[in-house]
Amino acid sequence: MQLPGERGDGHSGTSCRRVASPTLATPSAIGALCERMPTTVQSKVQTYNNFIDGEWVPSRTGKVFENRNPADQDDLIGLFQESSVDDAQAAIVAAERAYEHWRLVPAPKRAELLFRAAQLIVERKEQFARDMTREMGKVLEETRGDVQEAIDMTYFMAGEGRRQHGQTVPSELRDKFAMSVRQPLGVCSMITPWNFPMAIPSWKIMPALVCGNTVVFKPATLTPLSALNFVKVLEDAGIPKGVVNFVTGGADVGTLLSRHDAVKVVSFTGSTQVGRMVSENAAPGFKKCHLEMGGKNIIMIMDDAQLELAVEGCLWGGFGTTGQRCTAASRVVVHEKVYDAFVEQFTRRAKALRVGPGLNENNQVGPSVSESQLNTVMSYVEIGKKEGATLLAGGHRLDSGDFGRGFFHEPTIFGDVHPKMRIAQEEIFGPVVSVMRCRSLDEAIAIGNGVAYGLSASIYTRDINKAFTAMRDIYTGIFYVNAPTIGAEVHLPFGGTKATGNGHREAGTAALDVFSEWKSIYVDFSGKLQRAQIDTQEL
Ligand code: UN1
Repeated sequence: MQLPGERGDGHSGTSCRRVASPTLATPSAIGALCERMPTTVQSKVQTYNNFIDGEWVPSRTGKVFENRNPADQDDLIGLFQESSVDDAQAAIVAAERAYEHWRLVPAPKRAELLFRAAQLIVERKEQFARDMTREMGKVLEETRGDVQEAIDMTYFMAGEGRRQHGQTVPSELRDKFAMSVRQPLGVCSMITPWNFPMAIPSWKIMPALVCGNTVVFKPATLTPLSALNFVKVLEDAGIPKGVVNFVTGGADVGTLLSRHDAVKVVSFTGSTQVGRMVSENAAPGFKKCHLEMGGKNIIMIMDDAQLELAVEGCLWGGFGTTGQRCTAASRVVVHEKVYDAFVEQFTRRAKALRVGPGLNENNQVGPSVSESQLNTVMSYVEIGKKEGATLLAGGHRLDSGDFGRGFFHEPTIFGDVHPKMRIAQEEIFGPVVSVMRCRSLDEAIAIGNGVAYGLSASIYTRDINKAFTAMRDIYTGIFYVNAPTIGAEVHLPFGGTKATGNGHREAGTAALDVFSEWKSIYVDFSGKLQRAQIDTQEL
């Protein structure tokens, strides 16, 4: 069974060229050489290692893959380990061993490590943001936001070291005490996507650690450097060996991480198709399986909306992160009375967006993350045209001059879209927005709910009755009033309904439910047998 473990089907690092590394032909020698170092310097290009049982080690395969800048394919960022199941196995064994110690470290002590880690990320924020823009393309302002999200999550979960509240309830029997506590589960595998290469790992790793679990982490092959930066922070903060393990590689690694007997929790963010495979892999072993998958999020604009505000929201929601967010507002439905005015403003503003390399602070929209992702965007543009939608803005790859070395595409808007068209139903994960018409709030809600996914939705209106009706009737995990569909904060639950998720939530205290399970404890201090439901006393 294939398991790319990437967001976007078939986008599993296809722009990463696999190369055999001659200097890694004798892994044990190299292993000794680069002990306690994340990298090996090979001429000008660095080779980055796995982190297993507290050591930076190369893969047993002796193979590495390339990490290249999507804004400039001539820019080789580094070589990362093309790991095999043997490497993943070693990481799982290390995590299993480390669990016996880590689960007994008091949670407030575990949290001290998280506080230190958060502080280190603060200190390294700018470098991390630059590394991230270089490896996945989104503009610097946004990669700073990504790193900030990891900081916020780390501080938030560190706070949970002194909470992790359970319940203390009265017993129905005299001289008996009743309470519940959270207990960790053991080894947790984490398979994370490239679009939020530091934030999303932090959503998973930090709650897992504060609850007392140990971790094996496989990041997307398109963004291994940001993941490594994050792991290095944990090492520098003093994480005991084996508590966090980091293995880069492809489908084989992901498959083992979701199947291995010793793994008790699998947390995955990526495409719905891959999420289904993860779920199938995890099911026979009854693992706890947390899935965060696709989205086709909608902004609903009513006839009383502040139109300029709605346009701002649609630009950010649709084209922020080049549309590569699971929360991206890839659908907009507009009341017919304001449709023409909205479309005129939205189109004009989208055409004025500055597209280009994210490291240039002047640019607003970066490249697609990979050639394969760009091809998906271009194929949906063709699909939209064939389906009869009106191309209002964009629609072309940008490949003249310097653009030619990257995967740039114009921000694209289709108008006159019918809700059943593929461009209005399927997740594109690129800078393409479909605009539809509606005659009423009810119709907008029906269109909003009429897709396979249920992550995020939003309404622009000045009518509080409409806002509350939509808030109740839209079936998603996240809802916004007078703001676009993106921008969830770390202290509320994050996740979706239907094909977006499988009932779990990350972020907020909801994340603790994924990485811990309840134990109910009864202490009888009566000195005699008291039977619940039977020996209860009359008043
Ligand atoms: C994602 O796209 O997978 O709410 C996560 C947001 C971000 C996280 C997005 N805070 O858009």
